[in-house]
Amino acid sequence: MKNIVSNLSQDFLWGSASAAYQVEGAWNEDGKSPSVWDNYVRIPGTTFKGTTGDIAVDHYHRYKEDVALMAEMGLKAYRFSIAWTRILPEGRGKVNQAGVQFYSDLIDELLKYGIEPLITLYHWDLPQCLMDEYGGWESRKIIDDFNEYASVLFENYGDRVKYWVSLNEQNIFVSLGYQLALHPPGVSNDERMYQVNHIVNLANAKVINTFHDMLPQGKIGPSFAYGPTYSKDSDPINVLAAEKAEDLQSHFWLDVYLYGRYPKLALAELAKQDIHLDIRHGDMELLKSAKPDFLGINYYQSGTVAYNPLDGVGRGEMNTTGKKGSSGESGIPGLYKRITNPFVERTNWDWEIDPTGLSIALTRLTSRYDIPILITENGLGEYDKLTEDGKVHDQYRIDYLETHVAAINQAVENGATVLGYCTWSFTDLLSWLNGYQKRYGFVYVDKHEVDEGSLARIKKDSYFWYQDIIKEHSEL
Ligand code: BG6
Repeated sequence: MKNIVSNLSQDFLWGSASAAYQVEGAWNEDGKSPSVWDNYVRIPGTTFKGTTGDIAVDHYHRYKEDVALMAEMGLKAYRFSIAWTRILPEGRGKVNQAGVQFYSDLIDELLKYGIEPLITLYHWDLPQCLMDEYGGWESRKIIDDFNEYASVLFENYGDRVKYWVSLNEQNIFVSLGYQLALHPPGVSNDERMYQVNHIVNLANAKVINTFHDMLPQGKIGPSFAYGPTYSKDSDPINVLAAEKAEDLQSHFWLDVYLYGRYPKLALAELAKQDIHLDIRHGDMELLKSAKPDFLGINYYQSGTVAYNPLDGVGRGEMNTTGKKGSSGESGIPGLYKRITNPFVERTNWDWEIDPTGLSIALTRLTSRYDIPILITENGLGEYDKLTEDGKVHDQYRIDYLETHVAAINQAVENGATVLGYCTWSFTDLLSWLNGYQKRYGFVYVDKHEVDEGSLARIKKDSYFWYQDIIKEHSEL
């Protein structure tokens, strides 16, 4: 295994990740108010078998047990998100000390074992009260509220936490929330999505600037869901479609984070759809002034596209059931459509398994942006089976992770700077729309959709594999 980590530096952050709503549970305890997800999951038909994060995997009450498992594994970093609704139950104003204390204790527990805490400010669980009051991200009022919330965190944890992620996957939460109507607030309106997205950009920029004022020694960056786009073949019409897809699906966010501007061609495409961003005086200056210290990327898969004629496919079905092959083709008429890549395998949820794609991602991002990259998520969501002897033989996950680690090692050899690798996820957790059966963890949790389970923690084979790789790397 040693040769697949040979180019990684000794301070490489071998980590793993989670998000508050997906692990904590305790949805209405100790002063926490409801988030948009607490409400959304209660709308019939929104999640697989009506699953909720009410209890999730009960990390809120079991965090010491979870951190002890991390320590035993030798984990170097743990990325987790903070629930805004625990810190500021009214969205702004009164600070809930019990909420502040919970994360303070979690941070101390991690530090006790020498595990670096990486905090995500926002992993999608917006306070419902802000949604009710002014439509959440649809109003510029959120820019100050998000900044106030972030400042409370910087003030309370900045002395102990060096790495911060401002937003988790802005591209996913705006598109699933306002285009595909699959996440709260369940809207399908391209115009609104792009206006929301611009406001999110402003909020992100402001928080990055506040961070640099308050914690000049710390490091902050957004986490972006990035998968490189491939063209179906060398037919120029497909290559052009792939270029446009890369621009509209990735550069549209990344250029804003890292250059402070929107890609010109993407804006022209939007103008053709009669979408014009509401850019006001001072907006672009703000976007330009905010400089992330690193780029977080969540990599799961690449995407292959072909030209999509004007009468071609539109939005397709997403596979949230785990029935392989149940997702349909999808695309934007007149631009591109996503097709199945015949050269790679797929998971039961139709996610393409492409470790080389991670190397391509790191290479492309390094060439275009020349910034250190922190891999904030990467992992395999699959059915796992607990055997009679109480084990989980997840060799498929080991294969997935091992080939992705090798891809990072290769990209580093080619010149990319990679600060660390956070697998998704440490324990099993709630997979938003897919319930509990789509598992990602190193640690199996006895929790299911219908029968709640005992919530017992069981180390999978992949747990021991990661333990070995961390140890072997430290001995190089
Ligand atoms: C990322 C999110 O999009 O992918 C995680 O940041 C999420 O929160 C992960 O769980 C895997 O996606 P899914 O839909 O399989 O849970």
